[in-house]
Amino acid sequence: MKKVITYGTFDLFHEGHYNLLKRAKALGDYLIVGVTTEYYDLQRGKLNVVDSIVDRIENVKKTGLADEIIVEDHEGQKQEDIQKMNVDVFTVGSDWIGVFDYLKELCEVIYLERTPEISSSILRAHKYPIVQMGMIGSGRIAPRFLAEAKYVSGVNVRAVYNPNEKSARKFGRIHEVEPYFGSFADFLSEVDAIYIASPHETHYEYARMAIEAGRHVLCEKPLTFTVREARDLYELAKERGVVLMEGIKTAYCPGFIQMMNVAKSGRIGEVRDVEACFSRITAPELREMRDWEFGGAFLEFGSYTLLPIFKLFGSQYESVEFDSILAENGVDLYTKIHFRYKDGLALSKTGIGVKSEGQLVIAGTKGYILAESPWWLTKSFVVRYEDPGRIERYSPKFLGDGLRYEIADFVSKINGGNRMGYCLTQEESVAMAGVVERFMENRVHRAGHLAAAQ
Ligand code: CTP
Repeated sequence: MKKVITYGTFDLFHEGHYNLLKRAKALGDYLIVGVTTEYYDLQRGKLNVVDSIVDRIENVKKTGLADEIIVEDHEGQKQEDIQKMNVDVFTVGSDWIGVFDYLKELCEVIYLERTPEISSSILRAHKYPIVQMGMIGSGRIAPRFLAEAKYVSGVNVRAVYNPNEKSARKFGRIHEVEPYFGSFADFLSEVDAIYIASPHETHYEYARMAIEAGRHVLCEKPLTFTVREARDLYELAKERGVVLMEGIKTAYCPGFIQMMNVAKSGRIGEVRDVEACFSRITAPELREMRDWEFGGAFLEFGSYTLLPIFKLFGSQYESVEFDSILAENGVDLYTKIHFRYKDGLALSKTGIGVKSEGQLVIAGTKGYILAESPWWLTKSFVVRYEDPGRIERYSPKFLGDGLRYEIADFVSKINGGNRMGYCLTQEESVAMAGVVERFMENRVHRAGHLAAAQ
């Protein structure tokens, strides 16, 4: 019996898939079809798959062509399957020519002619019109956002807004996006969704105006400075039927999600302590260092360090205490925040003028998780136990600088999917605004003391 194997995502099952399976089946007597998991697709950069794996398997099954359907979930699996299942022929479409030649040492490799002018990507684009996005702000993060958005299908960044005409024009020229600087309403009328990457203190107002105009909003952290403002925005978004998402990129990275799930799985017992640190020595001329009111270490990096704390312990802490080292101008150079929960403790450390080990330690009753810097991109983490010889290592794949996962999640939510709604819940985002609010109150108080002392 001649065994043939083929693999694919088979999203929005189409004629090209059917033809491929039919021709694959004709190459032998028994056809095995591997369907990729969502996790594996994410890992290999396919970020906008629409159908669930159950639907995709069901659609392959319905063709009646597959004698066996298996799930493909990791790199290197093809070699394993071919050997384990005594496969004679491996086949895929001609878009992959050459890519799988390395399998020739295990079996025959055949590239079948691809059906022209049809693909899942084309269907996705038809099903969901391309989301036209505009960016507010043309600072350091804006070019990174543009570059990362290119890896996400279904979205196009077409305009940039900056009230400063010169900056808007300069950015528009360099990055080939249309610059807007005058009327904000004109800018909004050109796009379906906006990404807010302007100075922190402008987030709320821009987000509110955009939501009121019926635009979806992806807003850089921190979303707002008060709980009331955060709640207002989420309520308004619900009322207007648009997506509002806080852009804490770590929350959307597959590796971080996996690490949180391992922590919650009981593997390290009950979680009792979370310590998260993020520091970057920052040049004195930069906004973070100069702006005592809206700059500083905590407002810059605190969303990252609060994230694992709220993910693992929730937002109902019993007490919170802030401590900062302030610069002469009142900017916090280093901030420690202690949380006490009913059954646990947590510490957030952020620095722009103090350098520390940027690690995340999640301590439990049976063991602990250690993620080294840059844990906020989560490319690896280890689980360790009392027995120092017992170490479990995880190396999740991570593509680009992480923003693409956040953008993909945003686009998928706009298109009605809520697949990853758990990445950052509204409750978590509002709870973070609560910490920001208390921090700001605290800082105003401390800065008052500072001024009085001078
Ligand atoms: N295929 C084909 N003809 C097409 C589209 C796909 O023969 N018009 C083949 C691919 O070469 C692959 C299999 O079908 O062997 C599964 O492909 P998959 O990646 O799931 O589908 P695509 O439509 O290519 O998906 P995408 O647009 O997301 O890349």
